[in-house]
Amino acid sequence: MTNGSVFVTRLIPQEGLDVLRQAGITVRIGEIREGVGVARHILMEGVHAADVLLALLTETVDEEVLAANPRLRGVANYAVGFNNVAVDAATRLGIPVSNTPGVLTDTTADLTWGLILASARRIPQAHNFTMAGRFQRWGPSLFLGDDVSPGGSGRRKVLGIVGFGEIGQAVARRAQGFDMTVRAYDPYARDAIAAADGVQWAELPDLLADSDFVTIHTPLTSETYHLIDEAALHRMKRTAHLINTSRGPVVDERALVRALDERRLAGAGLDVYEFEPDIAPDLFKMPNLVILPHIASASHETRARMAVMAAHNAVAHLRGEPAPNIVNAAVYDSAAYRARLA
Ligand code: DGY
Repeated sequence: MTNGSVFVTRLIPQEGLDVLRQAGITVRIGEIREGVGVARHILMEGVHAADVLLALLTETVDEEVLAANPRLRGVANYAVGFNNVAVDAATRLGIPVSNTPGVLTDTTADLTWGLILASARRIPQAHNFTMAGRFQRWGPSLFLGDDVSPGGSGRRKVLGIVGFGEIGQAVARRAQGFDMTVRAYDPYARDAIAAADGVQWAELPDLLADSDFVTIHTPLTSETYHLIDEAALHRMKRTAHLINTSRGPVVDERALVRALDERRLAGAGLDVYEFEPDIAPDLFKMPNLVILPHIASASHETRARMAVMAAHNAVAHLRGEPAPNIVNAAVYDSAAYRARLA
């Protein structure tokens, strides 16, 4: 007996598939090869034939996709970010959208710190040098970097956090161990900033001008697109490092290339890209850059829990029940939603 069907765009961890199958749901997977995107026509066919779509952040779930199936009961996004889903259109069409918040907070904050340390202390560059057999002997100027904690400078370094949601807050907590001064900017989280231990509010221009490390943790919206543009980069100190583990388009990548190239920034650490999965070719030429393939939430445990969360959301969508992690709760009061379930 089948209890409906879920189209999973690309292979997710087994733990999530088990939740769906144990609920008696028919599961179809669009693409099982790791690193291969799902073709648009497969996505359209999959949505057309399924009751619920379980999508990855690599899929553009636009209005055309959402409208492909008048019986579609929900979209469960396997990510906390949901900028890949046209949420306004989904709400209008009566389609609930859910995400996977909370579970990846620590994992993402940890990797942010990995990038801060890697950029400041030039760890990947030194690793590559050593792996290439080029280490001959210890030297006083070999791979000099910047202190994160007061270190030799004796000065508390300033960490500027742009976006003070759960991940920004987790990054701030970790900064205490490095004895840093922490400033944060987030017009939607003034209370959280005021309540956070040892965190001071700063307007964005001041934060950019004062920080030794600027780290981005905003969602991608029309307000945050290119929030870090040419002008913002010009405000930063020449000795500062920029870290981005949120979404690529929050930073104007071409402006960042210019800033790195002209040594107007000491370094940058990126996990996400403006035109992902494409990376601006000039970024590869920057010696003062650390780049990763969007792995901030990539621990075995976290990715498995994300899969379970997305699966539970999908089951709820399918059963017409409130999803545990709904993004557009207003949809449940709409006639369009009720019509879909009828
Ligand atoms: C997310 O969830 O939004 C991350 O970018 C990937 O886990």
